[in-house]
Amino acid sequence: MSEIFAGKAFLVVTGASRGIGRAIAEKFASHLKNDSKVLLMARNLENLEKIADGMPRGLIILCKSVDFGQTTTKELQDALNDALRGEKPESFNQAIIVHCAAVVDYTRTANDLTDFSEWQTFFNVNMFSSAVLNGLFMKTFESSGVKKYVVNVCSYWGLTPDVYVSSYCAAKAAKDMFFKSFALENPDVSVLNYLPGLVDTEMLHDAYKKSKSEELVTRIKSALENNTVSTPEKTAECLVGVLKQQNYKSGDYVDFQKLNTV
Ligand SMILES: NC(=O)c1ccc[n+]([C@@H]2O[C@H](COP(=O)([O-])OP(=O)(O)OC[C@H]3O[C@@H](n4cnc5c(N)ncnc54)[C@H](OP(=O)(O)O)[C@@H]3O)[C@@H](O)[C@H]2O)c1
Repeated sequence: MSEIFAGKAFLVVTGASRGIGRAIAEKFASHLKNDSKVLLMARNLENLEKIADGMPRGLIILCKSVDFGQTTTKELQDALNDALRGEKPESFNQAIIVHCAAVVDYTRTANDLTDFSEWQTFFNVNMFSSAVLNGLFMKTFESSGVKKYVVNVCSYWGLTPDVYVSSYCAAKAAKDMFFKSFALENPDVSVLNYLPGLVDTEMLHDAYKKSKSEELVTRIKSALENNTVSTPEKTAECLVGVLKQQNYKSGDYVDFQKLNTV
């Protein structure tokens, strides 16, 4: 068993303002030791602050509104520095980062995607910001001997192509491959590519409401009616178990659906 929650931790969760990221932040926070520091990131500051308010009192939490579509290296480094609040990285036992923020476009065909700046913004959110934030996080803790954990929240659309979601499939696949390469270069870091299952969040309901794919809409409708959709809390709880057990090779996928019947 690994000691991921055993000592004082520095935790970063992106996409923490709702859905799966929110549940992961809350679930992890309930396991963290007093004086651990938590950095919650997303655009909606009000939501982040409400979530922080519900977390255990012994934690030191910073909520940071960041638009990952427009962010800069400096803004991300400043967020990490602000969350450390002058404390030395080596004073932590674990540094944990969960890359969860994402956005999906369910409506356009691959041939409609002809605007470079839209592609740039989309990849900034779904791929580049994770790579940059991850690098800054690693550099922050590189000389400290602190045990590092990286969780990349993946999607089945990073593994399997589908209609009307080509940009999302491309970004998710790229992000997974980035973290697999990162894992090879950093054997001392525990890297998990976590597939969270089909989860009842705004993203899923958006797909149901907006997708032009009849097959997808039918599939989601049937999953919602047959209660085969998971909750953010269930998948976050499963993730905690996976991280505690460390029963995976760094960089590999672990799939909620293979571990659970919803
Ligand atoms: N739900 C599912 O069934 C499912 C299945 C497979 C994989 N996933 C994966 O699970 C993760 C979370 O999905 P979810 O279902 O919880 O989605 P969600 O409810 O839509 O949450 C998305 C999160 O990303 C943040 N975000 C979106 N755009 C952002 C931007 N430009 N800058 C900063 N933050 C941004 C949102 O916060 P703000 O709006 O406050 O910025 C929110 O916190 C994603 O990586 C997704 O690919 C979900």
